[in-house]
Amino acid sequence: MEQQSEREFDLVVWGATGFTGRLVAEHLLRRSAEESFRWALGGRNRAKLEAVRDTIERETGRDAGTLPLVLGNSDDEASMAALAGRTRVVCTTVGPYAQYGSKLVAACVKAGTHYCDLTGEVQWIRRMIDRHHDDAVSSGARIVFTCGFDCIPSDLGTFFLQREAIARNGAPCSHVKYRVNDFAGGASGGTIASMLNMMEEAEHDPEVRRIVSAPYAINPKDQRSGPDAAERLGPSHDPDFGQWVAPFVMASINTKVVRRSNALLDHLYGRDFRYDEAVLMGSGPLGLAKAAGVSAGTAAGMGAMAIRPLRRLIGKRLPQPGEGPDAKTRESGHFDILLFGRHASDPARNLRGRVTGDRDPGYGSTSKMLGESALCLALDELASPGGCSTPAAAMGEALLTRLQKSAGLRFELE
Ligand SMILES: NC(=O)c1ccc[n+]([C@@H]2O[C@H](COP(=O)([O-])OP(=O)(O)OC[C@H]3O[C@@H](n4cnc5c(N)ncnc54)[C@H](OP(=O)(O)O)[C@@H]3O)[C@@H](O)[C@H]2O)c1
Repeated sequence: MEQQSEREFDLVVWGATGFTGRLVAEHLLRRSAEESFRWALGGRNRAKLEAVRDTIERETGRDAGTLPLVLGNSDDEASMAALAGRTRVVCTTVGPYAQYGSKLVAACVKAGTHYCDLTGEVQWIRRMIDRHHDDAVSSGARIVFTCGFDCIPSDLGTFFLQREAIARNGAPCSHVKYRVNDFAGGASGGTIASMLNMMEEAEHDPEVRRIVSAPYAINPKDQRSGPDAAERLGPSHDPDFGQWVAPFVMASINTKVVRRSNALLDHLYGRDFRYDEAVLMGSGPLGLAKAAGVSAGTAAGMGAMAIRPLRRLIGKRLPQPGEGPDAKTRESGHFDILLFGRHASDPARNLRGRVTGDRDPGYGSTSKMLGESALCLALDELASPGGCSTPAAAMGEALLTRLQKSAGLRFELE
């Protein structure tokens, strides 16, 4: 295999013409004032890529005129092989990944090229792990899924809390809870298309339905069971927060990624480690009413999306590919997550933490998280092996530092 250091680029933003891809490119152009890296914008349409180059130059006030453009098509194996052979890292926002991502992952695995993306499509991640993990270990390619709001706050938040627990208590917490306290933002057409595609696959394939609801579905092959059950669907009272909680829509992917991280990190969090996520709804009768309302609303929404004609009707009324929340919504957005870590035997040694972000979770913050993941894979000394990985297992400490320095995230103990 050709040496990675001989590649033309350190990283390529693949899908730079999309809603999120352009924001990632904008973040990287700003960051190129602080760090030195060779990079390019990639996509299937030259005129659109040139327009993105103009837009990010205007938005950042930094020269983008000489930024190289890489053309190709995700449906074409040869063009994905050519892309993977030119760069050390591919950072991709071309989704739905289950539709457009498989040839690129295969090409990166083969070429030993590191890869990061924004997928939250559990069934596709499982497919990629089963198909490519062993070859990625051999080629040294770090294939890192879920480098956006799903699942970095969950994955790195847990990694952070457990690091602190081990430093203070000499042992990890036996159970970590992730509770969404507050957030503001919107959804893009690409995210909606990915959700609709997942529902479509689930409708036709019982195996996809099984994978989506199995708590350890993306763990290594011989470790697909453990102490956690499937996510709760109804409201419940959480005594550790003194509040009622409702299901969190992203828990299905986030919890599985945290469990895979534990397995890949050689059970750093313990073999009996438990993890769950929910949204805080307040205390007393009002908290209960809100938790019940959100639970019922989530169940009704998922139920409606499972019915094909309703799904198509709803899909037409939501943002379409290329559309998403405007700059004001992104800049005034934020998120605030509370963490609780239970010590195995001594409640006095329980830990509480917090993860916050300074932009809307899905785009303003996500684009910075993905951009920093790509820089981390390209520029940092990482000890992790190749394989189908997670943000915490592949980049851990190095990514934690970057997210706090350059992505507007904070990881704190309370
Ligand atoms: N995890 C998270 O927190 C998070 C947050 C945001 C987004 N996402 C995910 O990120 C993905 C992108 O979302 P988005 O809203 O940015 O989508 P989008 O605006 O629809 O962008 C999709 C991009 O894919 C490109 N594309 C489509 N088919 C292609 C092909 N055959 N070859 C090459 N390029 C192709 C499009 O190119 P053209 O411009 O030429 O059409 C465009 O650049 C979705 O899967 C979404 O779920 C995840």
